[in-house]
Amino acid sequence: MDVALDQPGLFQNQQGEQYAPAANRLAPPRTALLTRFRAVRAASLEMCRPLSVEAFRIQPSEEISPPWWNLGHTSWFFVRNVLQPFGGAQEPADDDFDYVLNSYYASLGERVARARRGSLSRPTTAQIYAYRASVDCRVEELMLALDEPRWADLAAAIMIGLNHEQQHQELFYTEIKSILAQNPPRLRCGYLASPPVPARQASAEALRLVEFADGLFEFGHTGAGWCWDNELPRHAYYLRSFALADRLVSNGEYLGFISDGGYRRQSLWLDNGWSVAQQHGWQSPMYWERVDGQWWAWTLGGMRQLELDEPVCHVSFYEADAFARWSGETFDAQRGARLPSEREWEHAAAQIADDPADAAPEAFLDPCRLHPAAALGHERLRQMFGVVWQWTASHYEPYPGYLPFAGALAEYNSKFMDNQRILRGGSCATPRDHFRRTYRNFWPSPTRFQFSGIRLAQDLED
Ligand code: AVJ
Ligand code: FE
Repeated sequence: MDVALDQPGLFQNQQGEQYAPAANRLAPPRTALLTRFRAVRAASLEMCRPLSVEAFRIQPSEEISPPWWNLGHTSWFFVRNVLQPFGGAQEPADDDFDYVLNSYYASLGERVARARRGSLSRPTTAQIYAYRASVDCRVEELMLALDEPRWADLAAAIMIGLNHEQQHQELFYTEIKSILAQNPPRLRCGYLASPPVPARQASAEALRLVEFADGLFEFGHTGAGWCWDNELPRHAYYLRSFALADRLVSNGEYLGFISDGGYRRQSLWLDNGWSVAQQHGWQSPMYWERVDGQWWAWTLGGMRQLELDEPVCHVSFYEADAFARWSGETFDAQRGARLPSEREWEHAAAQIADDPADAAPEAFLDPCRLHPAAALGHERLRQMFGVVWQWTASHYEPYPGYLPFAGALAEYNSKFMDNQRILRGGSCATPRDHFRRTYRNFWPSPTRFQFSGIRLAQDLED
């Protein structure tokens, strides 16, 4: 069998020959994790294949990291949280790159300012690829060699590393969307060869509100599967009766908000939202452009005319909130419309029989599409999973009894529980096997570069 010697997963023995770790010697839980490790790591390399050497280095704004950094940081994460604590092999690059690849872990040392990642020409992109391959080899070696008593702890650390990497895959797609959008129109070129094809026969049905009775319900992760620390502990919470929209807000509906002066009527906006919107001159969602009286939108497949039936996307929490208020004032059937709380969303999601992993094929990450699909089908609740992240009214806070991960990873989620809002549901850039109904995403209210959209809710009279 021919083996490509420059593939990750191959490394050198003492005689300088290349070889692959003998995964066939692993016990079942180890082979399963090794298989997952290889799949997730390979997906990060795959997603970078269409990039030009120039695109790897661009940082358009503080919140958008360049792709080289994304590849490096996700490898660094295994160095600091897997190889070093469990006695894996070390390399000089581990120390050399530590300062630039540490994102925000104060307990792991000094780091370059986030806004300066795009100003660095070192490590080179080639060095980052070599570092990645070396980290892959060393983690695989450790998975083979570690003694049984420490295996469970190693597996737990690797699971965090893989879920971290999947979060960064979603970040990559949204970052590259922004990076490629910077070029002037005549030169601008998408990540995919052609724009997304609109879904077959989307139904432009009027929005329906699905009713839920009040009661004391359970929230948070349950069962044996993996989850983030912030999804625990499971706890009871009382919900008043409410209604939730059966689908996401569409581009067509959002256009109604714009043409009714949504961006000019301060009374529709939270005060902070109004300030941010004025400061940035927001008059439409991010990536929308009006050309000769027609609306177009930048997609990962280039510019495309706005599809009215597709869900509105790349709106901030503030725009979602203003849109909800406008809907509640404008349409009788939606009187008092607002954004759902994260627990209302989770309670509704719990009633969908199908597992999110079995959601429609157009949902979740498809590296060849990367665009949210219009509402299809006739289920009671549509577009709940894997279309766009849905802003909730909930602030990002610990659940009662929350315990952060131990050690440096305590910083992973807990220190951001301030001044951010929860988003639910996953998006067209979220890997399908990364998501759960209890998944809590969070971003500051002004954030627009994620695939973020709107689902309306409403109080019911008891
Ligand atoms: C949960 C998506 C807000 O991007 O900062 C990546 C994910 N955490 N590395 C972020 C994350 C650490 C996080 N979000
Ligand atoms: Fe990270």
